[in-house]
Amino acid sequence: MYSNDTLKGRTALITGGGTGIGLEIATTYARLGANVMLVGRNQERVEAAAKAIVDEGGKAAAFKVDVRSYEEVKAAVETTVERFGTLDILVNNAAGNFVCPTAELSPNGWRTVIDIDLNGTFHGCHAAYAYLKASPHGGSIISIITMLGVTGWPGSAHASAAKGGILSLSRTLAVEWGGDNIRVNTISPGPIGDTEGVQRMYIDAGNGDLEARKTALGRFGRKQDIANAAVFLASDLGGYVTGENLIVDGGRWLKYVAA
Ligand code: HXC
Repeated sequence: MYSNDTLKGRTALITGGGTGIGLEIATTYARLGANVMLVGRNQERVEAAAKAIVDEGGKAAAFKVDVRSYEEVKAAVETTVERFGTLDILVNNAAGNFVCPTAELSPNGWRTVIDIDLNGTFHGCHAAYAYLKASPHGGSIISIITMLGVTGWPGSAHASAAKGGILSLSRTLAVEWGGDNIRVNTISPGPIGDTEGVQRMYIDAGNGDLEARKTALGRFGRKQDIANAAVFLASDLGGYVTGENLIVDGGRWLKYVAA
């Protein structure tokens, strides 16, 4: 059951850990006893985020990484193990997106988002594999995707294809690495109101009310809702769960289907 030491003795690496959902997951993990390594492109941002966790009594460190570079991801994984002794949990959260009609999307725009989201997730899984396999708790990989990558996402073909690819990759790895005691799952957040992505893509674009109404619950979620799901999947609470896509979207995708 959930307790203050649900993740005690475990180490988690969170990509895109300096802000938004990634930071919320990192902060929650640290509050439940995990050591957390926050990685991201903006060194000042990940360092400030790690310091905030340390200031409230958690164990955290930061490392500058662009997940598009396998070498940088590998260095982050090795630094995590040097610093904390193990790597038990990998959260592939780093993502990039912008809205652009597909006919106007340049090949480099396509490549950029595929590189960050899909290739970045592969880099994390590949670099972490040996350490996750050695975890005394069993390894856990959690990748953040979206049901929009399954149901269709006009204006985001690049991100949609990447997220759909991550779902497929995760299911394959769940089967391939299950015998290594590594569980591989995804979380599909719906519109999370207190994130930069929803602020920029929905609220600033004047569609906030409309997008909230598209969910069954009629409201945006909170970053904490996603962090709670990420605790379940990372811990022994989700010990028999693998290959799962945990949808935390206020019933948005079902409402799309039901409409
Ligand atoms: C069309 C665009 C564009 C836009 C960039 N490009 N922005 N094309 N419309 N708005 C094109 C560029 O013209 C270029 O192609 C190519 O993409 C690469 O752009 P760069 O700016 O050089 O790339 P980079 O600096 O690496 O930035 C990556 C990025 C950027 C993804 C483009 O937006 C970013 O860093 N984002 C990180 C933060 C982020 O997006 N967070 C939200 C994630 S939310 P050409 O051909 O000109 O060279 C999320 C889920 C949201 O993922 C779900 C809920 C709404």
